[in-house]
Amino acid sequence: MINNNVFIKTRKKLIFTITLVVELFMILMSVFIYSYFKTSIVVNMDRALYEEYHFISNQFNKDSFLNPIILQNPQDIVYIYEGDSIRYYTRNRYFDQNVPKNNSKRTGFYYEIYNGYNFRTAKIKKGNYTVSIMRNIDSEKESLSHMLVLLILTGFLSLLLAYIIAKYISKKALKPIEISWNNQVNFVQDASHELRTPVSIIQSKLESLLRNPNSTIEDEAETVAVAMRETRQIKKMISELLSLTKEESIVKINNENVDIEALFSDIFESYIEIAEYQNKKFSYKTKMKNKFVNIDKSKLEHLIRILVDNAFKYTKENESIDIEAVEKGRNRVQISVSDTGIGISQSDQKHIFERFFRSDTARASSIEGSGIGLSIAKMIAGTINGNIRVVSKLGKGTKFIIDIPRGKIVKNIR
Ligand SMILES: Nc1ncnc2c1ncn2[C@@H]1O[C@H](COP(=O)(O)OP(=O)(O)OP(=O)(O)O)[C@@H](O)[C@H]1O
Ligand SMILES: [Mg+2]
Repeated sequence: MINNNVFIKTRKKLIFTITLVVELFMILMSVFIYSYFKTSIVVNMDRALYEEYHFISNQFNKDSFLNPIILQNPQDIVYIYEGDSIRYYTRNRYFDQNVPKNNSKRTGFYYEIYNGYNFRTAKIKKGNYTVSIMRNIDSEKESLSHMLVLLILTGFLSLLLAYIIAKYISKKALKPIEISWNNQVNFVQDASHELRTPVSIIQSKLESLLRNPNSTIEDEAETVAVAMRETRQIKKMISELLSLTKEESIVKINNENVDIEALFSDIFESYIEIAEYQNKKFSYKTKMKNKFVNIDKSKLEHLIRILVDNAFKYTKENESIDIEAVEKGRNRVQISVSDTGIGISQSDQKHIFERFFRSDTARASSIEGSGIGLSIAKMIAGTINGNIRVVSKLGKGTKFIIDIPRGKIVKNIR
């Protein structure tokens, strides 16, 4: 299709946007989770170190470092300095031989690395002393780096997943747009194609008039009549095309209580003269206990008129047309328009609801038509929640059956 590129581009954009949004969200979530865990580990550790400081500072108040200091957490390493010289330290497996000097003026909580081990240190001044409490954080660091790897892996996995989901969603979302777009393109192509025929007939007729400038209108009556007929045809097609586009866009429904018998009678009145003039039998009957349905009256009438129009068009003299309504259970009503006309072959029945389709028999006969009527009928049937089907036999006759919901009858009717 001409505009396939537009769809491919839009789809790519949509996939990219969805994937980007999902991935950004995942990255933000990962950053949040990682920093939350990291911060909470540090906060808890600092609190524990500070508690340890209080625990041990009470013990060397007595100014004696002769007794070993008892630790709240035996894993902690404690160094107590007086100035630069060390006064007390706990034995440990990390740097027993290589005692850290109190060479920095630094106090507070910080990270440090000794002999390849990671520590969180709390260095707090107490009078002349500096107390340094260290806790090994290798296992916490390892857990955090495992978590980071896991989050990065999840990020990649979610990227893949987001891409697959975005592909699926974009395909689903664009499908109806693509279908209606293609329908529009087909419609415009078909419509212009169908309009071309009557226009070229008119053109050739006008040219033939120009070729005989001395003829009178009377001489050329036949030519003018053909041109007039084609003009009428174009006019009818244009108004039908307009009603088709309206039917597609304005799906506003005005439901009301409709007396089917009265509706049939109105339609009958407007066709009876044509029936008499064309020498055809036209009748209607309703076999209904309750003759009311709640439906959009003008839409239903339009639909029946399209079918009656066809029935008149595709019948000859002495043949008959009949409209009938019956109840189908409590909730549905069936309206049928039947004729004893030319009928529709089995293979054509599949296509008659398509725009611009006309059977070969219809085209071969001199019956005018553009093949739009039934496509409008089908659309209206859908709009009023009904459906339409055809039963026909070539040469015997045709019956169109409309099935409509009765709807909720509003009370207080006469
Ligand atoms: N009652 C019928 N009997 C036989 N053939 C029919 C009948 N109704 C429809 N058809 C066939 O279905 C085709 C489509 O009908 P449709 O009403 O859509 O178009 P049309 O009557 O040809 O033109 P128009 O747009 O003017 O109504 C007709 O051309 C005809 O071949
Ligand atoms: Mg028709």
